Amino acid sequence: MFDEYGIPQGANLDEAALSKLYHFVYCSRAAEGVDDAEVCRIVETAQRNNLVHGITGVLVFGSGVFFQWIEGPAAEIQKLIATLHRDKRHHDIVSLSQSEEERERLYPNWDMEKVEAEDIRLVLQDAFESAEDKNNRVALKRILKQLDLGALGRV
Ligand SMILES: Cc1cc2nc3c(=O)[nH]c(=O)nc-3n(C[C@H](O)[C@H](O)[C@H](O)COP(=O)(O)O)c2cc1C
Repeated sequence: MFDEYGIPQGANLDEAALSKLYHFVYCSRAAEGVDDAEVCRIVETAQRNNLVHGITGVLVFGSGVFFQWIEGPAAEIQKLIATLHRDKRHHDIVSLSQSEEERERLYPNWDMEKVEAEDIRLVLQDAFESAEDKNNRVALKRILKQLDLGALGRV
């Protein structure tokens, strides 16, 4: 547990540099008429704003469904969450995970990166398998079912 100098193992100077990071992961359904060009505009705005507010993350768009991971200072993420809820370009926002922890960023170099989803089902299935929260699993299962029924397919 302690090394020869009496310092607890695992403790290192880098850890002191870790700061609190808030993350929010959700999926939502794109509004009627939201196409790739609109998603490009969303990503451009996101990159511009996120850089200023210390937010990084990824945005996946496929089959009429958005999946987004955002991480950054808690106050900034909370403000963005409120903005996202007001944005008419999507609806049915389902929160999959959010918390504040001391850890490194998952996407330190991406102000907002659009990740191609040949099949967004794989992304959601992956999230479903790693989701620990029961409510998240239920929400994801519902979305996966809708995908399978073709209820979300517009793109
Ligand atoms: C699916 C989706 C994801 C978005 N992601 C971000 C984001 O990461 N950062 C951001 O600033 N705006 C994002 N937006 C846009 C915001 O809802 C809002 O339109 C924008 O922040 C307004 O910025 P402006 O005042 O500079 O025009 C997103 C919108 C949608 C529909």
